[in-house]
Amino acid sequence: MKKLLVANWKMNKNMQECSEFANEFLKRFSHQREAWIAPQALHIPLLTHLFKNSHLKIGAQNISEFNEGAYTGETSSRSLIDAGGSFVILGHSERRQYFGETSTKLNAKIKTALSQKLSVIYCVGETLKERESKQTLAIVANQLHQGLNDQNIADAQNLIIAYEPIWAIGTGKTASPTEAQEVHAFIREILSNKFPYSGYGMRILYGGSVKPDNVEELLSQKDIDGALVGGASLKAKDFLTLCFDK
Ligand code: PGA
Repeated sequence: MKKLLVANWKMNKNMQECSEFANEFLKRFSHQREAWIAPQALHIPLLTHLFKNSHLKIGAQNISEFNEGAYTGETSSRSLIDAGGSFVILGHSERRQYFGETSTKLNAKIKTALSQKLSVIYCVGETLKERESKQTLAIVANQLHQGLNDQNIADAQNLIIAYEPIWAIGTGKTASPTEAQEVHAFIREILSNKFPYSGYGMRILYGGSVKPDNVEELLSQKDIDGALVGGASLKAKDFLTLCFDK
């Protein structure tokens, strides 16, 4: 399977910048690796249009656990699909930290998204304090068990896990390839036990200061199937470098 590179644009870019990115990216994208982009929700229809003849998938950074109704300010899975989106990132540490999302709430969001046939990228990861007190594996296991409890995974391809150590996000610090591999192997074991038929083949991405100069070493690890990228996905030139298989 090709490595998967997912751009998490967070709350960045205006429409003009989205178009410039697409023009530059499409000129040189060679499909050696799979590329997905999660822009701000309001830009999803534009991005879907700009990338319509490519195999890039466009998705959201969050959705509601409810399908429709009186939930002011929320975005539903159905409206995401309507706008051309096909995946959603759930449980990013910024959502957990600034918007109080718990693994229990995320469990409901994952259920809703999967039931609508969206692909889900579920993020897990520890803080620096938790790593220093050797709690990494316990924290990750807990986030996986709570978030994935009672999920019906019809298609293994629809659930992707992103391991993002919080201390490595936007800080320039990356987990070493060995540190990342250790957690990825542990996640794979949990997925295999949880989903006996499909767990082993689920994709596990690494995230946290992935850049052109560290991507190859990370992606060469046995259990790292791709990367979730923030800062280095904002410039077409850098994201292209990440998507190019050397
Ligand atoms: P970063 O962000 O690549 O800027 O560290 C990763 C993420 O938040 O998904």
